[in-house]
Amino acid sequence: MSEIKTIGVLTSGGDAPGMNAAIRAVVRTGIYHGMTVKGINKGFNGLINGDIFKMDLRSVSDIIHKGGTILKTVRCQDFKTEEGIRKGISMAEVFGIDAIVVIGGDGSLRGARDLARFGMKVIGIPGTIDNDIGCSEYTIGYDTCLNTVQDALDKIRDTAYSHERCSVLEVMGRHAGYIALNVGIASGAEVIILPERPFDFNKDIIKPIIEGRNRGKKHYIVIIAEGAGGAVSVAEKIEEITRIESRATILGHIQRGGSPTVRDRVMASIMGAKATELLSDGIYNKVVALKENRLVSIDIEEALETTKEMDNDMIELSRILSL
Ligand code: F6P
Repeated sequence: MSEIKTIGVLTSGGDAPGMNAAIRAVVRTGIYHGMTVKGINKGFNGLINGDIFKMDLRSVSDIIHKGGTILKTVRCQDFKTEEGIRKGISMAEVFGIDAIVVIGGDGSLRGARDLARFGMKVIGIPGTIDNDIGCSEYTIGYDTCLNTVQDALDKIRDTAYSHERCSVLEVMGRHAGYIALNVGIASGAEVIILPERPFDFNKDIIKPIIEGRNRGKKHYIVIIAEGAGGAVSVAEKIEEITRIESRATILGHIQRGGSPTVRDRVMASIMGAKATELLSDGIYNKVVALKENRLVSIDIEEALETTKEMDNDMIELSRILSL
């Protein structure tokens, strides 16, 4: 029998569609495995402050289709200090919590790792629209975000077509370009600018636009990942150099909201279930991850040292397809 009887669950960092489905899975499968589940509100802040409550099967009714996170989320600065982490651990003891499931992005999983280093048992679940967790091919929220961006871009394309303009769209992703690259391919963007690849304005932006115009194109889509620059200045410069009327759109937080797609709901459900299965088997300090399309669990220290590379073939394909 595992000594883990009571588990806490929290969401941390930027919210992502599907987090609710993951919370639901943790609560329901946790109870199914005979554990008590406690919700920790507002991420690591709530842990430090003892904003913790007991959850039951009905606490997670009617949330699977909702964006955001019912447990709320915070980017917690205190948790970057040893004092903050120790406070979190002693508050977990006050509430009788034996292990914590942390759902969030890179910073949140690092917070989980720090808890583990100070003796708390943890399981991390990758949840971020950025899909930038090195150890996992997939993060909860990514698919919904891609579809939201694609939907917006299809609308932008209509007006770019009508006005024969160049539309520059800035998408989220922090330091990663997965959203930009995949939506770029899905929408046939003329130019995709990624933080992972240095770019030359004339060669990588102006040249494909002018060459496209010479081949008969009349409107253009440029996608820029936020980590690579700003849409407004890029649009202004394109217009100045090419004389093609250009407009910038910054999609912003619309990319983080909305009802999760089937893929996000299913991934969140199986990742949440895997987390409680591990704890019920007495296994902890792992990150649940998708590797070669299979659900695995990876030691948390190793998971956070793993990096993933942009797929060069996909970048090349995006260039060919936009000719
Ligand atoms: O990590 C998710 C994300 O949406 C990033 O893409 C973006 O850079 C960041 O969070 C924005 O954070 P905030 O909502 O705190 O401004």
